[in-house]
Amino acid sequence: MKESDRSSFGSKFGVIVAMVGSAVGLGNIWRFPYLVGENGGAAFILVYLLFSVLISLPVFCAEFVIGRRGRASAVGAFRNLAPGTKWYLSGFTSILAVFLILSFYSVVGGWSIKYMVDSIQMKFSAAAAGTDFGASFSGFSTGIWEPLIYMFIFIIINAGVVIMGVEKGIERFSKWMMPVLFVLILVLVARSAFLPGAGVGYEYLFKPDFSKITTQTLMAALGQSFFSMSLGMGAIIIYGSYVKKSDNIASHSVITVGLDTLFALLAACAIMPAVFSFGVEPGQGPGLVFVTLPYIFSNMPLGSLVAFLFFLSLLLAAISSAISLVEVMASFLIEEMHCSRRLAVFISILSQVVFGTLCSLSLRPGSPLTIGGMSIFDLFDKISSDYVLTIGALLIVLFVGWKMKKADYMDEMTSGGTIHLPKWIAETIYWLLKVVAPLAILTILIFS
Ligand code: TRP
Repeated sequence: MKESDRSSFGSKFGVIVAMVGSAVGLGNIWRFPYLVGENGGAAFILVYLLFSVLISLPVFCAEFVIGRRGRASAVGAFRNLAPGTKWYLSGFTSILAVFLILSFYSVVGGWSIKYMVDSIQMKFSAAAAGTDFGASFSGFSTGIWEPLIYMFIFIIINAGVVIMGVEKGIERFSKWMMPVLFVLILVLVARSAFLPGAGVGYEYLFKPDFSKITTQTLMAALGQSFFSMSLGMGAIIIYGSYVKKSDNIASHSVITVGLDTLFALLAACAIMPAVFSFGVEPGQGPGLVFVTLPYIFSNMPLGSLVAFLFFLSLLLAAISSAISLVEVMASFLIEEMHCSRRLAVFISILSQVVFGTLCSLSLRPGSPLTIGGMSIFDLFDKISSDYVLTIGALLIVLFVGWKMKKADYMDEMTSGGTIHLPKWIAETIYWLLKVVAPLAILTILIFS
């Protein structure tokens, strides 16, 4: 397709809002803090930061380059750039990833709606300060109908947005809600800092104990870095395909990766002091944030209002991320299978409902929905990031580093020579994605 045939983002700001909207979501607020808690704190965070700069940033640029040059979504972009080869098959790992991620993402999206409704009902007000929020979370999340109904609501909102093609509207929303979310997290960070015993939480966050690093930790950190930045499955390829030739790939990538990392670190700084102050178990897994935040809300002035605004902005952040997931599935079905947009979204809803339901029900105690002792929820959550995104990212860097011509890469990074990107930056990113990233990813995949 020629540039004129494909709709583009109106402005640089629009591109950044969309990419940050895709990146910042439940991954930052829900998944990152719970992984930090499961993997021993500071050491995990350090590894995460290292991977984000040395591996995820180059992967981000690589996806961007493929998307803008290939001018199509994953499968089609590979076909356009390497006609007659089998590279397009690597686009299929994206479909597997979307399918796994959307299932548990819808469940957790539903949890956010439930907590938003609870905050309207003043369940996190000062009067609720004595509540055992751990018990109320597990009572809710291991139930049958309640979590399912909230999950359906999340799926319907999400699909509605995609069907009506009002992503533009959502961008307009995200433009305001992202800063709101940001400010609210800062408020929570500040409140947490003054909780009795917060110091233990900071020690946990900033004093690394390297004996806690195992290959599993490395893998979790790498997978989370990809997950959080929406990498490894073609989401950024799609967004890249809508970006104008004159936009600066390197600076868009740095801004998105940087903001995403900031949101994740701040979320951890809000949660961990409270975890230790209220005696919550840090390694309890996916419930961590939903158990801890109510303790903070119920111990601050205007807690219900802050809680409502927080869960509302979290929901919008989750929707703007889920849109990009549905979009990957939908563009595949539209471009490759020649489905209509409606049918494509319908298929996505169907898979979300069926597999989301399995994920949600697998959290019930004694549920038979386990594989090798792990609930389907945990399994989808772990496998998607740790393996599928990781393999997807590996194929992407191998493609740009070894299959594409370096001159083509340079042409994209400098927008055909019109952008004065310092040469050493383009070169450094190139060598990171050609050599460092593939070696690191392969090593981690092999040793775990
Ligand atoms: N990055 C999002 C989050 O942190 C989730 C997400 C959206 C995603 N699109 C993606 C993850 C594509 C992997 C690939 O919540």
